Amino acid sequence: MRCRSRIWALSTTTSTSGKPRSSGAKPIGPLFIAFEGVEGAGKSTQIRRVAAALRQLDIEPIVTREPGGTRAGEAIRAVALDRDLRLEPATELLLMLAARSVFVHEVLRPALEAGRIVLTDRYELSTFAYQGGGRQLPLATVKQLNQLATGGLRPDLCVLLDVDVDRGLARRASGARDRIEGEDLDFHRRVARAYRELARQEPNVALIDARGEIEQVFAAVWEALCARFPETFSPRQG
Ligand SMILES: Nc1ncnc2c1ncn2[C@@H]1O[C@H](COP(=O)(O)OP(=O)(O)OP(=O)(O)O)[C@@H](O)[C@H]1O
Ligand SMILES: [Mg+2]
Repeated sequence: MRCRSRIWALSTTTSTSGKPRSSGAKPIGPLFIAFEGVEGAGKSTQIRRVAAALRQLDIEPIVTREPGGTRAGEAIRAVALDRDLRLEPATELLLMLAARSVFVHEVLRPALEAGRIVLTDRYELSTFAYQGGGRQLPLATVKQLNQLATGGLRPDLCVLLDVDVDRGLARRASGARDRIEGEDLDFHRRVARAYRELARQEPNVALIDARGEIEQVFAAVWEALCARFPETFSPRQG
């Protein structure tokens, strides 16, 4: 679903603060951007950073995460990531997709129909990489079932933060690990390999070198967003 009508912020509209939203006619959405990458790649950090930069442009994005983002989705997340549960790969896949179908129905479609910018922490590329690559379920089946869950709603852009697994895991070494984070190194390496392969195969993926410091990575993310959506993301204000 890529032919959504754009909503335009005109110079005459004002924000709640009374400031003009923009200096001219400026399309602000709908736009659907997913942040992807291995554990500790910096997804949550960069989403927060991009959201803050958008707010400086007087654009309020919807920031959400998967699995989750809805009441049912968060409940499914709790089961899917429960360290005390042993789940079959197919069970894990179907839980992720159950959460996604609610997410698409309750959060994503309404937000995009309202012309909003949605920034999500993980979406379908995670399923392809973790349940396809990591759990080694057949990718074609994973994609087919995902299509059922999303109704074909794909991100305008996936920002894929690329770091090696060891660096990512080291960044978040101190935190408690959920069921998937606690998998062995081989699993996480398969996920990382799958992500890189997906970056080559899938449309609308911006592969970002995420090994540098937070501000350096943010500069690369913002540059990718500016290159892709110059009408919304301005190089001067990043
Ligand atoms: N570029 C970076 N350099 C160093 N540390 C970073 C960088 N980006 C994020 N961090 C730190 O690494 C940790 C993990 O970052 P973050 O939570 O953003 O990753 P994530 O991809 O969301 O991880 P997860 O998959 O576990 O949710 C945080 O403590 C964060 O402050
Ligand atoms: Mg995170």
